[in-house]
Amino acid sequence: MRLLHLYQLSVALGVVSAWPAYLHKRQSSDTPGPGETEDPTFEEEYDFVIAGGGTAGLVLANRLSESGRFSVLCLEAGPNPEVVRAYESPGGNQFIKGSNIDWAFDTQPQEHLNGRTLQYLRGKTLGGSSVTNGLYYARGSASVYDQWADLGNPGWGWDDVYPLFVKSTTFNPPTTPELSVFSQDYKTWDPDAYGGGPLELNFQGYVTESTNSFVRAASEAANIPIVNDLNVGNGVGIKLGTATLNSRLRRSSSYDSFYQQAHNRTNLRVLHDSPVSGIALSDSNGTVHAQGVSYVEQRTGFVRQARARKEVIVSMGAFQSPQLLMVSGIGPAAHLERVGTNPLVVNENVGQHLNDHSVFSIMARTYPNASTTTMSSSPDSLQIAQADFYDNLTGPYTAPSGITNGFQELSNDELQSIGAQAVIDAGYTGNRSHIEYLFESVWYPWIPTPFYAPQPNESYISVTASSMVQLSRGNVMLRTNSMSDHPLINPNYYAHEADAAIGIASFRYLRKILRHPELAQYTIGANAGEVSPGVENVADDDDEAILAYIKANTIPNWHASGTNQMLPVEDGGVVDPRLRVYGVEGLRVVDCSVMPVLPDVNILAAVYMVAEKGSEMIREDWGDEGY
Ligand SMILES: Cc1cc2nc3c(=O)[nH]c(=O)nc-3n(C[C@H](O)[C@H](O)[C@H](O)COP(=O)(O)OP(=O)(O)OC[C@H]3O[C@@H](n4cnc5c(N)ncnc54)[C@H](O)[C@@H]3O)c2cc1C
Ligand SMILES: *[C@@H]1O[C@H](CO)[C@@H](O)[C@H](O)[C@H]1NC(C)=O
Ligand SMILES: *[C@@H]1O[C@H](CO)[C@@H](O)[C@H](O)[C@H]1NC(C)=O
Ligand SMILES: *[C@@H]1O[C@H](CO)[C@@H](O)[C@H](O)[C@H]1NC(C)=O
Ligand SMILES: *[C@@H]1O[C@H](CO)[C@@H](O)[C@H](O)[C@H]1NC(C)=O
Ligand SMILES: *[C@@H]1O[C@H](CO)[C@@H](O)[C@H](O)[C@H]1NC(C)=O
Ligand SMILES: *[C@@H]1O[C@H](CO)[C@@H](O)[C@H](O)[C@H]1NC(C)=O
Repeated sequence: MRLLHLYQLSVALGVVSAWPAYLHKRQSSDTPGPGETEDPTFEEEYDFVIAGGGTAGLVLANRLSESGRFSVLCLEAGPNPEVVRAYESPGGNQFIKGSNIDWAFDTQPQEHLNGRTLQYLRGKTLGGSSVTNGLYYARGSASVYDQWADLGNPGWGWDDVYPLFVKSTTFNPPTTPELSVFSQDYKTWDPDAYGGGPLELNFQGYVTESTNSFVRAASEAANIPIVNDLNVGNGVGIKLGTATLNSRLRRSSSYDSFYQQAHNRTNLRVLHDSPVSGIALSDSNGTVHAQGVSYVEQRTGFVRQARARKEVIVSMGAFQSPQLLMVSGIGPAAHLERVGTNPLVVNENVGQHLNDHSVFSIMARTYPNASTTTMSSSPDSLQIAQADFYDNLTGPYTAPSGITNGFQELSNDELQSIGAQAVIDAGYTGNRSHIEYLFESVWYPWIPTPFYAPQPNESYISVTASSMVQLSRGNVMLRTNSMSDHPLINPNYYAHEADAAIGIASFRYLRKILRHPELAQYTIGANAGEVSPGVENVADDDDEAILAYIKANTIPNWHASGTNQMLPVEDGGVVDPRLRVYGVEGLRVVDCSVMPVLPDVNILAAVYMVAEKGSEMIREDWGDEGY
């Protein structure tokens, strides 16, 4: 009966999220209006309510329920990932796109990319983007985390956070009889960097010879040292990439690792298909307190409300975490008013300062032996590769199409000479990688460029560059005041001119890498087989044409962050160094949105670390230490 009543109430209010509207009305009159209750009616009560069961959310669910002292509810909008079982294999990642475990966001038209609208992938499932991502795992440079600390975040320096990276992870040696048939070149690691935690790491199985050639080519052409491991604080270097794969080369997402370890605990409740629609905030004598959340039980369509005795923890990623804060009345005043949300806690920084990495590629035609193009050239060949993987753990499906990445540091002299003084001014120097070079044994990304469309009877490799010191910042804004509408996402790539300078320099290095004899030996045609853009279209010394090519082909590297930065408010912050939202009691954000400076690497490992650190701080604050 009560459920029906609440459902009718929310319909009457005309919003999915009953809570912000409730507050809105309560503020404008001291007595409740018709159909309103004085206080929220919670059907359920927990110590902690986690909004979002993604990468970080399931780490929190595990760690906060670990001692058994607290009851925990974790609410995830998407389904169980097993509805798209192919998520587990290293090969075939491109087929997850468009499935029902992806949000299928689009960006706003990008002003500095010829007005293009870009697809923005994000996992929508238990495990979030760790279920759908490219499987690459690396931690980046110590100097990044030391900078986080220097910016006003004590406790976040490399020496503080390194043990948490170690704690999360287990390394599987690739030398079991089954896996030792694959090339072992550059498959090196430091056993001390992994501590037996739930997240499993391994190397890919199958390695094309061209992948090992890329390691040598990038090392020589871009002056990148070949290193033993990239997970011990040295973010500059190259080796065969480390993947979130278990000993049988199945994906280890936060669903497969942290969730599986914890899901039987009686003090933990994890609900999928249960999108959070608002945070219940109370305003008592000037103190705003997060009391709980409202969510939609999608199986029935009813709205439910869960109380958090201790804290609400928001973990919905770089786009929806700020969206939830804003929908609930925490954010930029004028913007919230424009969409009809009462700004209860004004913070102009919520949703601002979106920071991301982006990529573009040069493609070359090769002999089939350099490439895994033929694997996905027909349904038959794909099915054979899949059967090889599932039956015998062999074949190209045991590998993602490219996770061997090189991280190059540019000297201050070089940064200055290319016009990137701003990178030095931002403090992004000193044992820090500036450019990531990636190798794909296929045409990447999976779309034609203005200069060439991949042909069904040809094989390709791609070399890809991504600035690790991107200075452009964008934002996330509300389209409406409802969580069921996608927010407006603007990464604002290439708004900063230093990003263009780095982009042009990285294009030139990509060509040097491709033309190095180690890679050129596999290519067909002039100029090391380059078909996009082709030297006839973009000459080596034509900066303008190079930049035009970059702008026509840039896509996200999927590292959105910074929309709820951990910084002092006056420096653009939304959360304090203990990840507490300024101006609200009982509310934290723990996910990629809190990063104040992007790591100089793909950010998955750092997200796991942030979640471990957040869990640790929450347990400290509630007296759950030394379990
Ligand atoms: C296609 C792709 C490839 C990538 N490749 C790599 C890679 O190879 N290596 C790497 O290091 N990084 C990679 N990344 C980045 C990395 O995976 C992400 O930065 C990281 O997983 C983000 O973790 P998170 O917990 O902050 O957010 P997510 O893992 O995205 O979790 C957010 C969760 O919140 C849920 N949610 C959203 N709205 C609601 C709501 N209203 N109610 C309840 N739940 C909600 C979402 O469904 C999701 O499950 C990739 C990302 C993508 C998208
Ligand atoms: C969880 O419970 C199921 C069913 O009782 C059991 O099969 C499984 O091994 C348990 N998992 C863990 C991690 O304890
Ligand atoms: C409310 O706030 C005022 C001013 O800050 C304070 O004097 C008063 O004690 C508070 N009342 C309660 C019930 O906390
Ligand atoms: C790849 O194939 C080409 C053309 O058949 C051949 O010349 C070359 O030796 C092969 N390379 C390797 C490493 O097998
Ligand atoms: C797996 O290996 C067995 C034994 O060698 C072989 O008979 C079978 O055909 C292989 N499966 C595939 C899909 O290649
Ligand atoms: C970079 O690392 C090297 C080797 O550890 C060290 O000697 C050097 O001082 C570091 N440089 C900076 C600028 O931190
Ligand atoms: C591939 O097909 C195209 C179009 O049919 C043709 O022009 C080209 O020569 C073919 N390439 C090869 C390697 O057969």
